Amino acid sequence: MEEIDWKNLSFGYMKTDYNVRCYNRNGKWGKVELNSDETINLHMAATCLHYGQEAFEGLKAYRGKDGKIRIFRLDENAKRLQSTCRGILMPELSTEKFREAVLTVVKNNERFIPPYESGASLYIRPLLIGTGAQVGVHPASEYLFIIFVTPVGPYFKGGFSCNPYVIVRDYDRAAPLGTGCYKVGGNYAASLLANKKAHDMGYSSEFYLDAREKKYIDECGAANFFGIKNNTYITPKSTSILPSITNKSLIQLAQDMGMKVERRPVPEEELTTFEEAGACGTAAVISPIERIDDPVNDKSYVISKDGKPGPVCTKLYNKLRNIQYGDEADPYGWVTVLE
Ligand SMILES: Cc1ncc(COP(=O)(O)O)c(C=O)c1O
Repeated sequence: MEEIDWKNLSFGYMKTDYNVRCYNRNGKWGKVELNSDETINLHMAATCLHYGQEAFEGLKAYRGKDGKIRIFRLDENAKRLQSTCRGILMPELSTEKFREAVLTVVKNNERFIPPYESGASLYIRPLLIGTGAQVGVHPASEYLFIIFVTPVGPYFKGGFSCNPYVIVRDYDRAAPLGTGCYKVGGNYAASLLANKKAHDMGYSSEFYLDAREKKYIDECGAANFFGIKNNTYITPKSTSILPSITNKSLIQLAQDMGMKVERRPVPEEELTTFEEAGACGTAAVISPIERIDDPVNDKSYVISKDGKPGPVCTKLYNKLRNIQYGDEADPYGWVTVLE
């Protein structure tokens, strides 16, 4: 068996021992099956290939100091997948089936869960695709649900730090009444070019304003935005952003710390008023924002004056990571401990 270099993992794909699969035929979900094949045999007219009838999810399993494996908020990921299914007419997978599939795939790949000390984790990628052949634009008659896992390195290799973002005005990720609130591949295809341009200019990621007016903050690439001021956690309310499970968790933790929470449209100008701001998601938990540039308008919103993460971001980040790794109590039952 090959040795894994836990210290040098990136956010990439590494083959593991098993994936799990579950088929939907004749309107019914079958059994969760273990599979060791990395490939799928797919009809060339499958709806996922032509009409983007596909959804995915992303969550993580962590190995604690106590050696136990913890999976973070898998029920929330099941619910979000169900919402996506309703949005693009795919059959919903029950939370029980989702849970069974996640636990099965994690258990059978236990040797790929990084040690606590590495700061790495096991990324869990559920995928649901329309596999039935269709030429007209209609939902498929058959579906395949797969989960694969792959070990991934810590997001912050050199320690928790701030990143620069750039407002993109010539691209939209999602329309106000489009699919931005669902986790479907099309949204990510729509973001590739803007993301590449942002990277080429030296930014961590592109920053989206609302597609209709380009006035309000939507998302930071593939992460939600939050700003901190006057002991208040402020995060955009918009129909075109993905409901982040990390954001939902941070909102709860901020309230527990005695902060107020506001979820409302956040105009771009308000960026001048935040004491701290961050991008949040499963990958990084929080990626604190150093500054947000708006090159078209020749503006730069500097959030972190000293280029370092602020106290509130740091506290929220440590609290959430400690719950995920089992270093602190889990008062809300967010974590599923693998038996
Ligand atoms: C577009 C987008 N927004 C936000 C998030 C963050 O969501 P979560 O906290 O559930 O990972 C993600 C990642 O899943 C995403 O792809």
